[in-house]
Amino acid sequence: MQDFNGRIAFVTGGASGMGLGMAKAFAREGALVAIADIRDDHLEAAVRSAAEEGVTLRPYRLDVTDRSRHAAVADEVERDLGPVSIVSLNAGIGVIGHIKDATYADWDWILGVNLGGVINGVRTFVPRLRAQGLGGHIMATASMGGLIVADSGGIYSAAKFGVVTMMQCLRDDLASEGIGVSVLCPAAVNTNIHQHYGMRPREFAAGAYVQSPEEQEGLKRMLAHGMSPDRVAELVIEAIRANRLYIMTSGAIAPVVAMRRDALLASLPDEPRNEERWQADLAARRYMTDRLG
Ligand SMILES: NC(=O)c1ccc[n+]([C@@H]2O[C@H](COP(=O)([O-])OP(=O)(O)OC[C@H]3O[C@@H](n4cnc5c(N)ncnc54)[C@H](O)[C@@H]3O)[C@@H](O)[C@H]2O)c1
Repeated sequence: MQDFNGRIAFVTGGASGMGLGMAKAFAREGALVAIADIRDDHLEAAVRSAAEEGVTLRPYRLDVTDRSRHAAVADEVERDLGPVSIVSLNAGIGVIGHIKDATYADWDWILGVNLGGVINGVRTFVPRLRAQGLGGHIMATASMGGLIVADSGGIYSAAKFGVVTMMQCLRDDLASEGIGVSVLCPAAVNTNIHQHYGMRPREFAAGAYVQSPEEQEGLKRMLAHGMSPDRVAELVIEAIRANRLYIMTSGAIAPVVAMRRDALLASLPDEPRNEERWQADLAARRYMTDRLG
């Protein structure tokens, strides 16, 4: 997809940080942009600040874990602006912690938003994108924590690995229909992610993952030196135009990616090859990658 002009874009978590950066960038390219977010204060501030920059954004209140509301918002956007052909499933919560400590409330909240929210977006928009026949692009925001693992990544990483995998599978599914697919895997970006522990809904109160005010301040200070959301948005636009699968923001993860690859290759069994089993393994690999035709 080369031309954003006149297309309709939909961005979840679009009222702050990277989502807002993308929304403004899509609008500057000539798209009509809907932003969906759970926070009314963010929606109001986003519309106001964008207007001050001469950019119009249309706000919709949405909790991405709410399936029926997702479909209702998609209908509203279609009615208000027209058929959506650029979808950015970006809403997420940066809540991390060790898996050994996690409660069901932690699992349900963090998987629900970070993985379930993207599933709901895919389920809502992919059939619409396909039926419209306008081509377009769908992307999700994962994280570098969706490609490399650290002990404290915990549920967040489990969800973000799922998002990366989902986008990889979807890319093959949609390749022949002129719909591009990307996954954004940022390192540090200067956003409001330090506020996310405070967004825990009441029904998930029984969680073990908490953040002290000092930890929150430390995260905010660290991310102040991260990439700006506007720069991330430029990379997103370039990647959509090139239909690039991975959108990366930093080379800092290279040694960890290499370590993971080396560890996997070093774990492959070193045993005499049983030809029949080898053929079955190759067939199984093809079954996963090409579905055997
Ligand atoms: N900031 C970073 O360093 C960083 C790095 C890697 C990945 N990410 C990912 O980037 C994405 C965007 O976060 P950000 O850093 O721009 O933070 P942000 O807080 O600035 O923006 C996230 C927005 O998502 C909204 N949101 C949260 N839960 C929601 C829900 N259930 N339904 C709808 N909206 C919801 C928030 O209200 C907020 O406006 C997230 O998926 C996050 O995991 C961030």
